[in-house]
Amino acid sequence: MESSVHTVTVEEAADLIRDPYPLFAKRRQEFGVFKGSVMDWSKTPESMMPEHLYAAVSFDAVNRVFRESKVFNSHIYDSTIGLFIGPTILAMEGKRHWEHRNLVSAAFKTRSLSRWEPEIVRPVVNGLIDEFIDVGHADLVKQFTLEFPTRVISKLLGLPEEDLPWFRKRAVELISYTVKWKRAFEASAALKEYFLQQIEQRRSKPTEDIIGDLVSAEIDGEKLTDEAIYSFLRLLLPAGLETTYRSSGNLLFLLLTHPEQFRAVQADRDLIGPAIEEGLRYETPLTTVQRYAAEETELEGVTLPQGAVIDVCIGSANRDEKRWERAEEFDIHRKRVPHISFAAGEHTCMGLHLARMETRVAVECLLDRMTDFQLVTDDNPHIHGQPFRSPTAIPVTFSAAG
Ligand code: HEM
Repeated sequence: MESSVHTVTVEEAADLIRDPYPLFAKRRQEFGVFKGSVMDWSKTPESMMPEHLYAAVSFDAVNRVFRESKVFNSHIYDSTIGLFIGPTILAMEGKRHWEHRNLVSAAFKTRSLSRWEPEIVRPVVNGLIDEFIDVGHADLVKQFTLEFPTRVISKLLGLPEEDLPWFRKRAVELISYTVKWKRAFEASAALKEYFLQQIEQRRSKPTEDIIGDLVSAEIDGEKLTDEAIYSFLRLLLPAGLETTYRSSGNLLFLLLTHPEQFRAVQADRDLIGPAIEEGLRYETPLTTVQRYAAEETELEGVTLPQGAVIDVCIGSANRDEKRWERAEEFDIHRKRVPHISFAAGEHTCMGLHLARMETRVAVECLLDRMTDFQLVTDDNPHIHGQPFRSPTAIPVTFSAAG
């Protein structure tokens, strides 16, 4: 079993972007862990290929990799997104990670959430709906899901309103680093200068926003350096903005393409929470992350050499038929069994409560203010992408409620 290599073939690669789940299922039926990859490496030059590639696809294997962060570390981020955002908790481990995460997480306490919902998230979401409600049609990706997390983050950070267009542009350039890396480096440098000014202003005049909290955060007399602060702020763009816009789009798309479940949510708002969790399980915005094996180790009967790069396939784990009945069905009424879209262990998503709250408010406001939703399917909108997934568009018609 260990000697055969299962990389993505040319034929499989063609289907991967549209729907990687059949490939995940095929691999998962044979292995929990295998030598090979669930990513398409065909465009990577030979000289840049990792020597040892493995993939974890069962729920148990993915869960174990996340939880054993000493053996499976995330240093790989230093040579990927870390090049664009700088050193952050994402690539740290152990004591250093714990100390650093404690410092930054003060800005994300649940206490803040109860304030953020009425003061920031609801006004942002309603303000966006105001922009298209009278027209009777909209592309909910362009006009809604892509926009509300950016506006929310910029307000949470306490950025001046007039900077939003500039900030939005640089944020999009940074998160598109796999497509245009040179432009992403420029955006990263521009964001650094911009955040340094924001940090400086708060040193002389403290504010009650995330940047203000980061400037004053202190544990045992230790404070965050400027580099740690602006790197963390840049991390919030791929970590907090991209994931939330994609996952909220996935949920809306799934509900609109499952009209009975959509009607059930319209009739009973208590179903929004289960719908969010099922959306995250069924179509996670990020299907795969990577880890390094820090030492030779065994995972589900497969020996991984030291230095192996491991695809940690969240998307596959979330559809493991050993954990969920009818795992390949989207069903908001299913018995709740936790998914792994927010990872697990020490790198568990720091923004998971915020992401859930933002999505809930977005769905609540849409349902409160609009009715008779119809998905316009002329241009064949669909969820696509690997490893990041979201709808190509969500063109809808609707009526304003009551
Ligand atoms: C549905 C939306 C989201 C999903 C699916 C998601 C998913 C994840 C995942 C899988 C990780 C672990 C990555 C890894 O270890 O390789 C992570 C980490 C992280 N997320 Fe999220 N995330 C979401 C929203 C957010 C939001 C809204 C924020 C903040 C504004 C955020 C901030 C972070 C941070 C700071 C980390 C790093 C934690 C650490 O390394 O200790 N995320 N997220």
